[in-house]
Amino acid sequence: MMDNKNLVEVQNLQQYFPVAGGKMFEKKVVKAVDNVSFGIKKGETLGLVGESGCGKTTTGRTLLRLHEPTAGKILFDGKDITKVNMLPYRRKMQIVFQDPYASLDPRMTVGDIIGEAIDIHRLAANKKDRQEQIISVLSTVGLNSEHANRYPHEFSGGQRQRVGIARALAVDPQFIVCDEPVSALDVSIQAQVVNMFEQLQEERGLTYLFIAHDLSIVKHISNRIGVMYLGKMVELADSYELTFHSLHPYTKSLISAIPIADPELSRKSNRIVLEGDVPSPVNPPSGCRFRTRCPYADELCAAQEPEWKEVTSGHYAACHHLDKVN
Ligand SMILES: Nc1ncnc2c1ncn2[C@@H]1O[C@H](COP(=O)(O)OP(=O)(O)OP(=O)(O)O)[C@@H](O)[C@H]1O
Ligand SMILES: [Mg+2]
Repeated sequence: MMDNKNLVEVQNLQQYFPVAGGKMFEKKVVKAVDNVSFGIKKGETLGLVGESGCGKTTTGRTLLRLHEPTAGKILFDGKDITKVNMLPYRRKMQIVFQDPYASLDPRMTVGDIIGEAIDIHRLAANKKDRQEQIISVLSTVGLNSEHANRYPHEFSGGQRQRVGIARALAVDPQFIVCDEPVSALDVSIQAQVVNMFEQLQEERGLTYLFIAHDLSIVKHISNRIGVMYLGKMVELADSYELTFHSLHPYTKSLISAIPIADPELSRKSNRIVLEGDVPSPVNPPSGCRFRTRCPYADELCAAQEPEWKEVTSGHYAACHHLDKVN
């Protein structure tokens, strides 16, 4: 069902947040997303991974224009939506959040939460139609009409995430940012919810940006995977290719970090264990942002930012020393 055309595309996307502190007249910013470019094909799942704080959520939210981009361009279905009124696109582009509890209003019933989405986009002809739509979307996610009258706290974590998914689906979107939608769930429930995302994609031809910390979760659901480090995309490739033939030392370290529970992966790559913490995105290292933790770094890496290039067909990476690393 995958198409070769990009449904969503970002070009040199940048999201800087102002932060407090800094001397007078000196503006400090968090460079949360810095010059990131990628496309997501129709019907595709693009996985996005990287350590906490690397800018995954900000990328997802900015491409939905839940934050206004500092710079760069966002295209949806070939149209530049960087500056347009988003209301008509809100319906086509939805988000499912990591924490279904925080993202569902505790004072609203599940029926009202879903009904609200239907109302915003005037999708119901009348009250009866509205009610039918609510029940239909609840059944799509494995809930029933009785659940419509209950409040979020009356559900288990997995059910609550189903409500979050139902809310996104209620407006019949084409694209969904799935921001760590299973991270907060019990491991036993995670597979169920991931399977539901896959089934929905098959039935509806949905396109996903699927965000996760953990490569083990996204490698199965994603067609391609992008890896972020400190606001930059460092590598992007087909899922299998990225898992078994990663090029960038940071990606290799992420794969090394997957416990032996995934022997498929741990067998494959030479281990790279990172030392130290991720530097501050307020004051990132010069040149290559990964250099302070990279075992291969030298003066060139400090002096010059590595170019984002297509190394083999469809496999992109930004590193000065791919020859040394591989
Ligand atoms: N609204 C905001 N204002 C200021 N800084 C922000 C804002 N949102 C995010 N940041 C900062 O931007 C950086 C990227 O954050 P982001 O939430 O996108 O990372 P993430 O990869 O999603 O992390 P996690 O895995 O923890 O969810 C972080 O340094 C974060 O503190
Ligand atoms: Mg996040």
